[in-house]
Amino acid sequence: MSAQIDSKRVSVPEIRAHKNAKPVVCLTCYHAHTAKLLDSHVDVMLVGDSLGMVIHGLETTLGVTLEMMILHGQAVMRGAKKALVVVDMPFGSYEESPQVAFRNAARLLAETGCQAVKLEGGSAMAETIAYLTTRGIPVMAHIGLTPQRIQIFGGFKTQGRTEAEWPAIEADAKAIAEAGAFAVVLEGMAEPLAAKITRDIAIPTIGIGASAECDGQILVMEDMLGLNPSPPKFVRQYASMGPDIEAAVKAYAAEVRSRSFPGKENVYAMKKAV
Ligand code: KIV
Repeated sequence: MSAQIDSKRVSVPEIRAHKNAKPVVCLTCYHAHTAKLLDSHVDVMLVGDSLGMVIHGLETTLGVTLEMMILHGQAVMRGAKKALVVVDMPFGSYEESPQVAFRNAARLLAETGCQAVKLEGGSAMAETIAYLTTRGIPVMAHIGLTPQRIQIFGGFKTQGRTEAEWPAIEADAKAIAEAGAFAVVLEGMAEPLAAKITRDIAIPTIGIGASAECDGQILVMEDMLGLNPSPPKFVRQYASMGPDIEAAVKAYAAEVRSRSFPGKENVYAMKKAV
């Protein structure tokens, strides 16, 4: 049997090679059609478990299931032909043991065709990251503000705002890099700490609400497109699609109600009898 490897797609070693080089451009993505639009502009698409909040309207990411991640991962893979696609491991699918993590990560790779998985956690997840990577599953790590631990943090709170917090977070970064993660997301982290970690570890850091000095950046697509009415404070919006969608729907509804749609151009008009 010969494995089909798409040589045009961005690879895990190519992302690793961005360390101290050109910044890695990453965005979250959850659907096939947006994946097509993003594909030639980003290096990495993350099918993030943030989909629970921005697509499914959940309060947190804790209710996201492996089946939801597989469904959205399959959709994104139908649209993404060039970018590296990473799928998040949802809460409860990897923390119990490296073996459980392997079984669920293998499902994500086999059933979606994605290239890598992402999981949250530092030193406590190092053994699991080593277990997965030595068995063929590339892992992107995620430290700092890890939304799956929101109940422990007591809210979406920036990490490392006092220097007393730094040693534990730095130890997390070193542990996951040594365990074999190919990149790490630094989320909601005090700027000087994120910059220091970026200087100190050998794998690319991908910032979100962290530091411009990270080796790359990621945003939640719905936040940067203006589809989330209350995005995090650090988000820069590059479009205002929420108001645009509302204006378009309002115009359509007005035309339907005044019977001016469909108009004379009606494509469903009857054919003339011959
Ligand atoms: O789930 C997600 O979208 C993420 C990003 C915020 C990095 O983990």
